[in-house]
Amino acid sequence: MPPSVRKAVIPMAGKGTRFRPITHVVPKEFLPILNRPLIDYVVQEAVSAGCEEIICVTAPGRELIRDYWPHTAFAAHRLTIVHQTEALGLGHAVGCAAAAVGNEPFFVLLPDIIIDAPTSVCTQLAQASASTQGRPVIAVRPEPTERLASLGVVAVDASPTPLLPIRDLVEKPAPGTAPSNLTIVGRYLLPPTIFDDLRHATPGAIGEIQLTDALRTVAQREGLSALQYSETATFDCGTPSGWLAANQYFGKPRG
Ligand code: UTP
Repeated sequence: MPPSVRKAVIPMAGKGTRFRPITHVVPKEFLPILNRPLIDYVVQEAVSAGCEEIICVTAPGRELIRDYWPHTAFAAHRLTIVHQTEALGLGHAVGCAAAAVGNEPFFVLLPDIIIDAPTSVCTQLAQASASTQGRPVIAVRPEPTERLASLGVVAVDASPTPLLPIRDLVEKPAPGTAPSNLTIVGRYLLPPTIFDDLRHATPGAIGEIQLTDALRTVAQREGLSALQYSETATFDCGTPSGWLAANQYFGKPRG
């Protein structure tokens, strides 16, 4: 068994513009798949990978998670809430968790990405990291060419295994310039050194402090791998069509 990663950061302080108008009053991570909110699925994934502390990055005044926590199956785990006072980007949101994480490796899970997998993706990341002496690793999956310009894309060295050394990362590449069809999915196993990189980060694509830019520095300094993870299905529930597909999928009777 790989050494377990104790802490998971869940950024949930974004604006949710693609899901307006409901996100004016219901935070995106509380949209339901059947009777459970998205946040329930991602916390379950982190807990099943061995996490003891869940660090939620929320906008001030949007701490629904505090009221929901006692009703979950993981109420015995520690919930920590930190604030991002302004939605300056995913990289900035992760940086807000620096003091809560401290000096140890940690997961980041985006709560709008819901993955059904034979082994939870966080567990797959921990196993992959252990096989490379603890190197940081991020989850990637192939996407069709027409979707690449709206996603983060990795440039990787060829490898006979699903664990690929990353050469570069590009956020929202201009059409026709993506270095591969492998996109960054929303599950990361990161080193605490990234917090220094985030502190010094400047706004990148779409004027936001991008996690991708700090990941590039990590890749150059200490090495970073991309894991093409095993999945049954992955849904981007940050858009109404992805959310609907997830409800249809989880709503089907299972044999
Ligand atoms: P998204 O890229 O989905 O952004 O962020 P968003 O703002 O929520 O949604 P749109 O693009 O406006 O529709 C991925 C995750 O990162 C969090 C979001 O809450 C979401 O869970 N995030 C993003 C933050 O916590 N802070 C930010 O400044 C940006």
